[in-house]
Amino acid sequence: MVLRDKSVVLGVTGSIAAYKAADLASKLTQAGAAVDVVMTRAATEFIAPLTFRSITHRPVSSSMFNAPTEYEIEHIALAERADVIAIAPATADIIARLAAGIADDLLCCTVLATRAPVILAPAMNVNMWENPITQENLERLRARGFRVVEPGYGAMACGATGAGRLADTERILGTIQQVLGSGGDLAGKCVVVTAGGTQEPIDPVRHIGNRSSGKMGYALAEAARDRGAEVTLISAPTSLAEPVGVETVHVQTALEMRQAVLDAVSTADVLIMAAAVADYRPANAGKTKIKKESAADMTLELVRTPDILSEVKGGLVKVGFAAESEDLVKNAVAKLKEKGLDLIVANDITAADSGFDVDTNRVVLIDGKGNQEELPLLPKPGVAHRILDRVADILAAKKM
Ligand code: PMT
Repeated sequence: MVLRDKSVVLGVTGSIAAYKAADLASKLTQAGAAVDVVMTRAATEFIAPLTFRSITHRPVSSSMFNAPTEYEIEHIALAERADVIAIAPATADIIARLAAGIADDLLCCTVLATRAPVILAPAMNVNMWENPITQENLERLRARGFRVVEPGYGAMACGATGAGRLADTERILGTIQQVLGSGGDLAGKCVVVTAGGTQEPIDPVRHIGNRSSGKMGYALAEAARDRGAEVTLISAPTSLAEPVGVETVHVQTALEMRQAVLDAVSTADVLIMAAAVADYRPANAGKTKIKKESAADMTLELVRTPDILSEVKGGLVKVGFAAESEDLVKNAVAKLKEKGLDLIVANDITAADSGFDVDTNRVVLIDGKGNQEELPLLPKPGVAHRILDRVADILAAKKM
């Protein structure tokens, strides 16, 4: 959402990883950004400008001296229009030229002339990456406020293995979103989000769990980040990648989640518990694998886990979820009161397209004053933003 109608200048330089910039340009465009691609001459040897023009539906610039489509001094126009400039891949050469303030091509001139934030996603051979000259250049740029998306580790086109691979598109995209959202309505706020389903061990190989995928909680963490919040995500096991720009704490059990939440909320303004926390755990988890020969049938003794939301006290805004298969609103209101919440997200888990392990959700938002808002079926990131709209209102009402 933070990318919609934003102007992104995407700089592409001469690396074998230049083709990966096409995927980034495509995702930025799909998210609603106006993407102006500026290529160095070397980049045009690796990938054709036509590729980016076709993806972005906008002209692609690669020279200071092309006849402009409208009369404007192009590097100044791009520099002023940009909400953010991202250079991906960024070679050792462009990093060195930017660090030295050289202005010998359109991309360098645009960066030098802009007041927008600049993000660099380096890609190069491992020895070039580790060379102290490159590292010193990057340090200099970081000190000037440039954001660097660290390259990944792995096999390279040159045959070497090491650090220097262009970071994944999702990491670069996440960094662009975080930078664009830094002045949002949750700027300066500290938000703690829980996600996923806790796992309660029966023995070293088995556990009691649930079908939570973590998608709802991760969407909330990313949405809060994109609105400027400092986010701590406390995650039970999921298969999702850690969100960029979010401090992620991994836990397994309800007891571990409780401790992580109590540690994190001491400095938080908001707690949102989207995790499906087990209400019971085996009283005595086996230290070794339980053998089936030991008994024909088996009874597990379960004990209650602590209610984390009820334990959290203090002036922060508390948001809970209620996953319900019947009497949705009635049961959610009861939980809102029991747990002393500011807002509860009543989650209908009866439909196939809502609740656990799907990309969409259908919820009713209910606040402490009894106001109800029924949302239509939405993708989970959309639901997350609607919840955060209400959180921002509650923070404003509490003058926090
Ligand atoms: O992860 P996904 O696949 O995207 O699915 C999302 C979801 C369905 C898990 C999510 O939208 C949701 O509804 N989460 C809450 C699930 C749940 O455990 O609801 P509950 O009604 O049992 O618990 C009520 C609230 O108390 C929840 O905020 C829960 O985090 C919290 N709780 C529960 C038990 C416990 N011991 N301590 C708690 O704090």
